[in-house]
Amino acid sequence: MIRGSALNGAPSSPPTPPVHVAIIMDGNGRWANTRGQTRSDGHRAGTQNIRRIIRLFSGRGVRYLTLYAFSTENWERPDDEVDALMELLGEAIRTETQALHEEGVRIRHLGRTDRLSPHLQKAINSSVELTQNNTTMNLNVAFDYGGRAEILEAIKKLVANGVRPEDVNEETFEKYLYTPDVPDPDLIIRTAGEMRLSNFLIWQAAYAEYYTTGTLWPDFDESEIDLALAAYAQRQRRFGRVLDSRE
Ligand code: IPE
Ligand code: IPE
Ligand code: MG
Repeated sequence: MIRGSALNGAPSSPPTPPVHVAIIMDGNGRWANTRGQTRSDGHRAGTQNIRRIIRLFSGRGVRYLTLYAFSTENWERPDDEVDALMELLGEAIRTETQALHEEGVRIRHLGRTDRLSPHLQKAINSSVELTQNNTTMNLNVAFDYGGRAEILEAIKKLVANGVRPEDVNEETFEKYLYTPDVPDPDLIIRTAGEMRLSNFLIWQAAYAEYYTTGTLWPDFDESEIDLALAAYAQRQRRFGRVLDSRE
């Protein structure tokens, strides 16, 4: 198992920066509300913001960035909002993939694809394939993602492969998740103030540091990133152990 910055699972003060940052990009609807705009306008503003955030985290040495863009529960939203979110993903893939590829960003998709339109599935697969050998930074887009669905899918694959109970351990199990070659997140950021995971990275978040800000996602900017990274740098990660008294 790869444990991000805590490579040996040893208790330590976290180095700056975290290896893997994951973000619950929340508050697009509230952002739009305060401006008398539609929720879809809020999602457009939120999607615009992603572009600069990727570069800012990359510039600070973060190697893996996971963005929660659409949850398995978000299908329950009004049809026009769901349509707008699908549209925005397609547009973002169309307009951003080439530039990200040239910057050496590897794109992964975390989540189900079977409920997305064939067109969107194709676009996702092409951007994943195109960028698969890039090594500068890793961008994981969680879209139609649910942590529980991910765990259930993994169990189904384990069973279908005839894996024996005595061979099931954390290491083998993780091979069946969406993230077999991604370190666990070191830092999970949630914008817009809510204090919950909303089904995000349920397995992988076991020892992530958690940070929340009241700032709404479209307003989350460079100074907010620095606040989150500064907060992370103050954390003492113990992984259940007792720290050396000299530390
Ligand atoms: C986050 O913004 C984006 C998605 C969940 C797709 P929201 O749309 O949840 O914004 P709020 O929480 O209603 O403000
Ligand atoms: C979590 O936000 C999902 C994404 C950011 C994509 P939600 O707005 O859907 O979460 P809840 O409903 O407040 O828990
Ligand atoms: Mg929300």
